[in-house]
Amino acid sequence: QMPPLAACYNLMDFEAVARQVMKKTAWAYYSSGADDEITMRENHHAFHKIWFRPRVLVDVEHVDMTTTMLGTPCSIPFYVTATALGKLGHPEGEVVLTKAAHQHDVIQMIPTLASCSFDEIIDAKQGDQVQWLQLYVNKDREITRKIVEHAEARGCKGLFITVDAPQLGRREKDMRSKFSDAGSDVQSGDDGIDRSQGAARAISSFIDPALSWKDIPWFRSITKMPIVLKGVQCVEDVLRAVEAGVEGVVLSNHGGRQLETARSGIEVLAEVMPALRERGWDKRIEVYVDGGVRRATDIVKALCLGAKGVGIGRPFLYAMSAYGVDGVNRAMQLLKDEMEMNMRLIGATRVEDLNPSFLDTRGLLGG
Ligand code: FNR
Repeated sequence: QMPPLAACYNLMDFEAVARQVMKKTAWAYYSSGADDEITMRENHHAFHKIWFRPRVLVDVEHVDMTTTMLGTPCSIPFYVTATALGKLGHPEGEVVLTKAAHQHDVIQMIPTLASCSFDEIIDAKQGDQVQWLQLYVNKDREITRKIVEHAEARGCKGLFITVDAPQLGRREKDMRSKFSDAGSDVQSGDDGIDRSQGAARAISSFIDPALSWKDIPWFRSITKMPIVLKGVQCVEDVLRAVEAGVEGVVLSNHGGRQLETARSGIEVLAEVMPALRERGWDKRIEVYVDGGVRRATDIVKALCLGAKGVGIGRPFLYAMSAYGVDGVNRAMQLLKDEMEMNMRLIGATRVEDLNPSFLDTRGLLGG
């Protein structure tokens, strides 16, 4: 019944398989967005409002997709973003993603709410593989301090503070799923999660809604890791982030799981980059985007607009849930093959060559 891995030709194919083979509660947790899932859908569709303006007769025999993110060299400008509860999809959890990330020389962001322990995920890394930490800030700052110091001591190369989740969004599919999966081992509660409000709400009550810009200097004082604010959604806050002295922002709406009808990250990017360039600040901060990236054309568009890299969440969860590490490896390889072809076809051979002149963004609000 399950199609062979080789029959997956793009990232959407993994989603279709995962939907069939995953437990209902797990599918509900991974696939849900907030409310009516308008932002979740828009994340994907916003990329379709941008068109390419390719250059021809460029020598594109050799294409180089390597880049750096927060100073770390990597093979291609995407990273595995943080997604909680990896063991809902695969018994080995997040270490599956760690193995594939190593295979492809891709950076992995470790979630605060991983199913594996933090040390297990660190121990699974190989050679000089690079990992970042995603941080949910605890009301008890001493707990947060310990997490950050431990992550730095264990070699994490970036601290991504999630700033779009002072309260968890309402993911109704997730909330409902407790009724739809009666009898499964997840439902019977042996993972200790009380699902009366859905998995997400059950595990997130420690997050501090009082977190504010005033806290940023404290983070700076407790770590030497580069600090990135994950979940920034307008130009005003990006400028504020530059002034606060952080190394990066991720323009993200949390995969459409938080504020419903928030704009897509790519739309926000089109607003942000001109304002940074105008002030000569575009070299002072690295700007990342996530949400809805499913094709390498999406990656290339974000880079043309000025992003340093993009995060990808659900597709790797689906590939992992359906086919384990082989699935994630194939998903990453498909993106690499697509991106190499896309670069050739737009007439660019290096990541540094990508710029807004390769795009027609008149379909975007900020275009
Ligand atoms: C997430 N995301 C997320 N972000 C975060 O900062 N901390 C977290 O614990 C989680 N957990 C999480 C779980 C699941 C199942 C999903 C789908 C997402 C958000 C994630 O980092 C990222 O912003 C989005 O997933 C990007 O959108 P795509 O690629 O999933 O469309």
